[in-house]
Amino acid sequence: MNEQTKTKFNEIRKVIDEHLDKYTQVKYPENIYKAIRYSLLAGGKRLRPVMAVEAALLFGAKQEEIIPAACAIEMLHCQSLIHDDLPCMDNDDFRRGKPSNHKVFGEATATLAGDALLSFAPKIIIEKTPKSISSDIIILLLNEFFTAAGTEGIVSGQIVDIESEKKKISKETLEFLYEYKTAKLFKLALRTGAITAGVNSDLLQNLTLFAQYYGYAFQIYDDILDVTADIDIIGKTPGKDAKNEKSTYVSMYGIEAAKKQTLFLCNKAYDILKQEHINSEILEGIVSDIIAGICKC
Ligand code: IPE
Ligand code: IPE
Ligand code: MG
Ligand code: MG
Ligand code: MG
Repeated sequence: MNEQTKTKFNEIRKVIDEHLDKYTQVKYPENIYKAIRYSLLAGGKRLRPVMAVEAALLFGAKQEEIIPAACAIEMLHCQSLIHDDLPCMDNDDFRRGKPSNHKVFGEATATLAGDALLSFAPKIIIEKTPKSISSDIIILLLNEFFTAAGTEGIVSGQIVDIESEKKKISKETLEFLYEYKTAKLFKLALRTGAITAGVNSDLLQNLTLFAQYYGYAFQIYDDILDVTADIDIIGKTPGKDAKNEKSTYVSMYGIEAAKKQTLFLCNKAYDILKQEHINSEILEGIVSDIIAGICKC
């Protein structure tokens, strides 16, 4: 993304970071708050909450009306990362450039930190969203949140990801796991922003389709980086997918085909923005970042 868009992105990101800090102040029992804050405030690109804020602003909501729900989405994302790194899942020792949560706090506390984030997040939506957003909208937002978090979202994606280790899977299964473990959260982000702003169902459908293409592209790019990038770039252990014998687009079709598919999906995502006359520097910018990254690999 260009410098102007990056500045806009970072302004939103700063507000998200301030609120995540405010929502998770340490109290007794300190260790659980410390574990939550260790991962939640460890940086991260903040793509999903910024996308939620951007969608809300694009369609006429105020920033303060979406910040709590945007932070809730980042909490859900952070929970999925803490649990994803556990020895019983991907067994990764590094995350966001630091030792993983369980390496510092132990497996029990890391598991509980994830649980806490998952239950804290919807409470933030209920308690912190301003009264200008109706209870009917809040119920819709909670339904979106729980859909993305559970068996209709990340949980099913993660179980298929784990079950697909060390075996040959079909293209349909690969698409399922990309959609459920990754794209569902991007869908949640845009839908949350748009629903807060009260958009109609056609537009909601198209934003969902954008997130689907973007989410697939994002996950294939993540799988490519796992093979090509250093730890300083990705902040997590490279070569992990091969070590765990994961089924990915890269392991199934090779790196060149994976790059081509990522670019194809990015162009599909752009097309939706164009067709729907969605003028968003940030949404265009995040797609262009993947394209630029692919061209550097
Ligand atoms: C990592 O997501 C998990 C995947 C879906 C690949 P991000 O790459 O957005 O992680 P952070 O938030 O920047 O750490
Ligand atoms: C990410 O898949 C999906 C999640 C729900 C966390 P990965 O297992 O590839 O994510 P990283 O590479 O560990 O961030
Ligand atoms: Mg994983
Ligand atoms: Mg992982
Ligand atoms: Mg990965």
